[in-house]
Amino acid sequence: MALRSFILLSLLASVFAQDRYRVCVSSTSQCQALELGDSRAICTPVESRVDCALQLVRGTADVGFFTDEELLVLGQTQPTNNLVIATVRDFTKPGSVSFQSVAVVRNDHTNGLEGLRGKKYCHPGLGEAALRWSPRVEKELETRAANTDRCPEADYKFKTAEEMEVETLSQFFGDSCRPGAWSANATVDADLKRRYPSLCALCGPNSSCDYTIDMGITIAGINNNNAHIKALECLRSGGDVTYVAWQHVREFFTIRNNDIVSNFSLLCPNGTLVGLNSVNITDTNAPCAFVSQHWGGIVANSARANALQTELRTWWPAGSNPADNTWRSTLYSILVPQSSNAQVIMEDTLLTPANFTQLSRPLTSIDSATSCVPPRVWCVVSAQELAKCNWVRAAAYSLGIKPSISCVQRSDIFQCLRDVREKNVDFIATSSNYGYLARQHFSLTPVKLVQNLHSDPNSFSRVIALVRANSDITRFENLRGRKACFPEFGGISYMSFVRTAQVLGVLNDKECDYARAVGEFFSTTCAPGAQDASHALGASNYDVSNLCSLCKAPNGANSTCSWDYTSNLYFGNNGSLSCLANNDADIIFVETTNINSYLTAQNLQASQFRALCSNNTLALQNGVNVDDNCLLSYVVDSEVLTRRPTLKHLPRPLKPHNITHPPPLRPVYVQDEAYSSISALLDTLEKYFGYTASSGTQHVNLEIFSSFDGTRDLLFKNTAVGFSEPTTATTNQPAKNYIELFSHLQACTGAGNNIPVPGLANRSFYSIVTLIVSALVTRFIVY
Ligand SMILES: *[C@@H]1O[C@H](CO)[C@@H](O)[C@H](O)[C@H]1NC(C)=O
Ligand SMILES: *[C@@H]1O[C@H](CO)[C@@H](O)[C@H](O)[C@H]1NC(C)=O
Ligand SMILES: *[C@@H]1O[C@H](CO)[C@@H](O)[C@H](O)[C@H]1NC(C)=O
Ligand SMILES: *[C@@H]1O[C@H](CO)[C@@H](O)[C@H](O)[C@H]1NC(C)=O
Ligand SMILES: *[C@@H]1O[C@H](CO)[C@@H](O)[C@H](O)[C@H]1NC(C)=O
Ligand SMILES: *[C@@H]1O[C@H](CO)[C@@H](O)[C@H](O)[C@H]1NC(C)=O
Repeated sequence: MALRSFILLSLLASVFAQDRYRVCVSSTSQCQALELGDSRAICTPVESRVDCALQLVRGTADVGFFTDEELLVLGQTQPTNNLVIATVRDFTKPGSVSFQSVAVVRNDHTNGLEGLRGKKYCHPGLGEAALRWSPRVEKELETRAANTDRCPEADYKFKTAEEMEVETLSQFFGDSCRPGAWSANATVDADLKRRYPSLCALCGPNSSCDYTIDMGITIAGINNNNAHIKALECLRSGGDVTYVAWQHVREFFTIRNNDIVSNFSLLCPNGTLVGLNSVNITDTNAPCAFVSQHWGGIVANSARANALQTELRTWWPAGSNPADNTWRSTLYSILVPQSSNAQVIMEDTLLTPANFTQLSRPLTSIDSATSCVPPRVWCVVSAQELAKCNWVRAAAYSLGIKPSISCVQRSDIFQCLRDVREKNVDFIATSSNYGYLARQHFSLTPVKLVQNLHSDPNSFSRVIALVRANSDITRFENLRGRKACFPEFGGISYMSFVRTAQVLGVLNDKECDYARAVGEFFSTTCAPGAQDASHALGASNYDVSNLCSLCKAPNGANSTCSWDYTSNLYFGNNGSLSCLANNDADIIFVETTNINSYLTAQNLQASQFRALCSNNTLALQNGVNVDDNCLLSYVVDSEVLTRRPTLKHLPRPLKPHNITHPPPLRPVYVQDEAYSSISALLDTLEKYFGYTASSGTQHVNLEIFSSFDGTRDLLFKNTAVGFSEPTTATTNQPAKNYIELFSHLQACTGAGNNIPVPGLANRSFYSIVTLIVSALVTRFIVY
């Protein structure tokens, strides 16, 4: 029978010999070896494993590998697609799961999970590399016992998710040891450790919240430096509960503390105790566990899953790498990234990732999950961006990152800026081209700037001023009364001209209305968008018509000021070049990104132009490539924006002798309640999905700064490599330049809020005020 089906299968296989399986490959250097000889596999290059999942569903790829945590994410995002055909295991870890997390208590423990209140808690530490637990796994006992999901009664609105969590934990547990990073931001982490010391009190003498307890003698077979072993020793030497991996509980009690194993019990999720003893401690499966983690596995699209599984059984009969220098061996190294101790076990029943993970890690669907902290809403402007955002949302949710994210699509960037201001959404990552409008007209403030990729010539925002090569203009003073074209009203080039001219003393720096400043300086200009509500929204009582008079509609149509390519020939950086080349303007201000391709497209020569440098001299040569000193701006190309601080009037603290004369109210800026929570969330997202999370150790291979599904510049520009802080204290010079670009605006108008803020030239002032104020607010004020 078996032989017959084998022959039948071989026949089928030869019939379909041309029928190759498309394999997701992220390192294309493996493609040649994969397609050698009589290979049945071909490469489908993918940028990330999330891209692979999208291709599997679309039917443009057939098979790929996914980690344990990625399978959970697939269960959320593609619940009815694809099938898990095999698991990839570590044969040194017997048992049906990758790991189990358990709670160990003393036998006299009573009253289930609630009985842990006030008890001494020993945790192996957040971010422990060895087992690669996600935050959700690391915190499972805390979530269930201390209800860290629940919002404390006190005003929580200004707090980060991290702070609410440790505050709840410090109130629930007694002296404890919970090492590791409580926040992805080291400053915030240190501050929390200082303010909630009881959660580090059990770590040992002179500890900076890392175990320094005496681990006793070293015994072969047990690693005293292992964080789980330390947490177990913390329990043995006086703690009341520890939350560790079952495999280490077994090591600890079989190799090292055989005599006392029966003094301890597992505390089950349903609150019952199961006593440990010399018998059940040898079982590879724990009597009860908080998390039982499935293995990662090989996933195929539903149409080809059965056939492929049959093939894999013959290609890899032992479940190990055939190591025979054939394409089968290459296929194994692609689908089984784990380099040692790997074993592939075929699944008997093929389940979708959702059904597969449901058995081990049942997770409420993301849309029905609730949390007291409202999700932070990310505004996006295209369907592809929404898709990427929703993957980030699902991945963050599966990993247990807080607060949760939700994604909302609007028709354009200005809709988003308006919705952030009106609190319909919370934040948006946007081009620095809109930095001025976002601050001036939409009252927003940066919560992060980006760091840009230095090796990419189109990275950063570099603004130059160009005149024609034969121009008589040699200094900014010559520009008064001349004609200028800008790519867009209020854009980065417009802003850069204003700032440079102010610094050179050519524009009066008492003038805070930048429409008037520019409009009165030049005779005529084209600044597309100047008449549009999205760009100007009641900002100016100046008649902006001469900011539009140079603009040009196609085919001699009526004059226009629109900010789109079809109805305004002079819109955009390439439009400005055309404006100058046509002799309509005497000077233009443009970004250098892609400038050579614009010249080529319009049949222009770089030598027709010369730059007017920010130090008020002409560049030495004609051309558009200038050194950084000549630029009007050299700044980061994008930022993440949220609502800016609002002015509040807080009472001064009462002094007893003054009680009959209440003190006056103090006006202070209070950071928006979402600000610090969004800042912390972005730090966390960078930690898990940024370039610092190297792909080898990433839980979920999703890159927020990279292309998604083959499309660049979604959520963030591809030129972004990480975040930087929006302060002048940053060491990132283009970020510093960017903050300084707006220093006049900020001093001028309180950044457009029409609240005078004398001397408010940088954000560190905000930060200090915010710190003081949030301390006051949480203590004295109930909003
Ligand atoms: C950490 O957070 C603090 C306070 O929010 C902020 O001032 C600081 O710049 C952040 N540091 C980093 C490296 O993100
Ligand atoms: C373990 O339990 C036994 C009997 O219940 C008790 O005599 C002994 O002191 C306990 N040992 C430890 C280390 O707690
Ligand atoms: C609690 O869980 C344990 C382990 O899964 C099980 O043996 C026990 O029957 C459960 N008890 C109750 C009351 O549900
Ligand atoms: C998989 O899950 C779906 C719904 O979540 C259910 O309808 C279906 O019966 C499950 N399939 C198996 C094989 O368990
Ligand atoms: C500038 O580029 C846009 C989009 O790439 C194009 O539609 C437009 O025609 C170009 N304008 C000029 C003046 O070349
Ligand atoms: C102005 O800047 C240009 C470009 O960096 C430089 O070549 C020139 O020497 C500078 N001129 C003065 C007077 O500093």
